[in-house]
Amino acid sequence: MNKIALVTGGTRGIGASISKKLSSNGIKVIANFTSDENSADKFSTVNNIDVVKFDVSSFDECKENVEIIKKKYGSIGILINNAGITRDAAIHKMNVSQWQEVINVNLNSAFNLVSNVIESMRENGFGRIIHISSVNGQKGQFGQTNYAASKAAIFGFSKSLALEVASKGITSNVVAPGYINTEMVAAIREDILKSIIDTIPGKRLGNPDEIADIVYFLTLKNSGYINGATFSINGGLRMD
Ligand code: CAA
Repeated sequence: MNKIALVTGGTRGIGASISKKLSSNGIKVIANFTSDENSADKFSTVNNIDVVKFDVSSFDECKENVEIIKKKYGSIGILINNAGITRDAAIHKMNVSQWQEVINVNLNSAFNLVSNVIESMRENGFGRIIHISSVNGQKGQFGQTNYAASKAAIFGFSKSLALEVASKGITSNVVAPGYINTEMVAAIREDILKSIIDTIPGKRLGNPDEIADIVYFLTLKNSGYINGATFSINGGLRMD
């Protein structure tokens, strides 16, 4: 079993919790980041986790960095597609950049990375691919036609991928978090966030560790019979 994991967007928010959880369980984690070099370096030092800077929305950068990682550490056996952004606006106010940036980072990254790691997973007869989607890709959300479309598409991507790779010892599953206590959610206007929390049966935000635990579980050898599945972790906000 190949214990080298790439976690995209792995130095902040949910991704940081996933990186730490996997690393503390003996997995060699490489945490990707795109912009904030200072905080990524700090994350790396504090947690003793290697970080790598590249843009997941660029196919060429993904290809190049998957190769670099392979040479330096060995081939990637665990891929956590976590990097995601929001550019919230109602459709009548959304511009084309807000649409494209979100689709490029949240959806095109899945193709950019999976297509570059899949060959060595097939050769090794082992792979764990976990996509972080969102409750808003399941139920929709005012102001998020771009984000909800990108996150909903991940379900179809993951299930199709699972069909293609299941016989090769590779799994592809989705974890769909609800509103989790991260910078992304903290950026929602206070009154709007309060009204969202009121609609959550659990009456609280989730904790990033509550996502990281299930992601770790899905990386295990004994999770090999879980394929094409969705794990919804949202305090009851959407039950499916
Ligand atoms: N349902 C129906 N109508 C709504 C609404 C809703 N949920 N939210 C706002 N409206 C209405 C308002 O009542 C208002 O109506 P009037 O013009 O008649 O008064 C109108 O829409 C405009 O509302 P805003 O003043 O809020 O519009 P805005 O342009 O300033 O802001 C917005 C729009 C940025 C989308 C803002 O509403 C917002 O931030 N919403 C929250 C979106 C959200 O939940 N994002 C999640 C981010 S975290 C994340 O995505 C992680 C994850 O996976 C869960």
